Amino acid sequence: VFAGIAQGPEDPILGVTVAYNKDPSPVKVNLGVGAYRTEVRGKPLVLNVVKRAEQMLIHNESRVKEYLPITGLADFNKLSAKLIFGADSPAIQENRVATVQCLSGTGSLRVGGEFLARHYHERTIYIPQPTWGNHPKVFTLAGLTARSYRYYDPATRGLDFQGLLEDLSSAPSGAIVLLHACAHNPTGVDPTLEQWEQIRQLMRSKALLPFFDSAYQGFASGSLDKDAQSVRMFVADGGELLMAQSYAKNMGLYGERVGALSIVCGSADIAVKVESQLKLVIRPMYSNPPLHGASIVATILKDSAMFDEWTVELKAMADRIISMREQLFDALKIRGPSISKLWMFNLLIHFLLIPLYQSVDHLSYHAETPGDWSHIIKQIGMFTFTGLNSEQVAFMRQEYHIYMTSDGRISMAGLSSRTVPHLADAIHAAVTK
Ligand code: LMR
Repeated sequence: VFAGIAQGPEDPILGVTVAYNKDPSPVKVNLGVGAYRTEVRGKPLVLNVVKRAEQMLIHNESRVKEYLPITGLADFNKLSAKLIFGADSPAIQENRVATVQCLSGTGSLRVGGEFLARHYHERTIYIPQPTWGNHPKVFTLAGLTARSYRYYDPATRGLDFQGLLEDLSSAPSGAIVLLHACAHNPTGVDPTLEQWEQIRQLMRSKALLPFFDSAYQGFASGSLDKDAQSVRMFVADGGELLMAQSYAKNMGLYGERVGALSIVCGSADIAVKVESQLKLVIRPMYSNPPLHGASIVATILKDSAMFDEWTVELKAMADRIISMREQLFDALKIRGPSISKLWMFNLLIHFLLIPLYQSVDHLSYHAETPGDWSHIIKQIGMFTFTGLNSEQVAFMRQEYHIYMTSDGRISMAGLSSRTVPHLADAIHAAVTK
């Protein structure tokens, strides 16, 4: 009965990993998916504090595997709201926040989207152009209509602030607006605090409903509070908003699918009713969320020593990414024009004598890669939006075995000091060919 089914396309982001896994090249580098890798071995990282929390959970004799409530682990929900909104948040103190545990960021966005489609009077959600590839699909399938607002200016490789203000000004009153809380994916371009304030004023004056996606709290700057500043500005004015939170990146809990949806409401009474409706969205979708990941997060967030340990490990990840930006920027400055002819030689060296690769590489070149690459160090968070086009991306995959999404986004967290020269070679060859 399914014989007529057409082959579906691979996901534009996760499909990059599928292609990477099939490539037998020893020099291949996966800069597609936004997932942290270690500097030395390029491996996924399980934080020490996470390992410690898991040990504590495993050795707790009274631990059971009962169903969680539909809304998830109560401690986890409270602590998650506190983490993003701040302990002294007026919304938390006034019990105006309804929080439910969801399946990471995507699940939180989907549950929030379905809730809005059922209970909110305006079904249009404005999403930035560009945005994370899954956003339009999540919201459309949730029953909303996705429209875009200008966000990124390819000419400056920065924010199109004027375009953003114009588009939000002409949105219908009450429309939902998706905002990336920090470290915009895929561009790495964020508004300044002054610009956030202007966005806030405009949105509140038009009663536009903010729906924040916070996937990188602590990852952009290394500070949990700093990366939550945009969100807290919108909570401080007493208005309503939705917040989708993920612990995939900042706690490295990718596969545990841990996240939370918080809805900041006008009063405590409304928050109770909103929570009751969220339960009606969740129950037929997946009944109740998984226990393990949320228990890890709650264990870490409620213990001050473990919380501090987490912030140190988080800052180390953020710092490594910042250092990758600097190294790539520097490497592009020293690329030589003869590079594209030498890449076969490089490949051989890389394969046979990987430890020597970097020193050989540095001896070989002297001139700059054409173009302004300062956006690599100006953009923040996990990704650099390189400005490379899909043809150049395909060339780099074909010739250099470097994998990235076709929009030219690279995950800085997938790079290491060892692979930076190879990437710089490939970019140089792509832009000079
Ligand atoms: C990404 O953008 O690479 C991550 O958010 C992973 C994903 O699910 O797409």
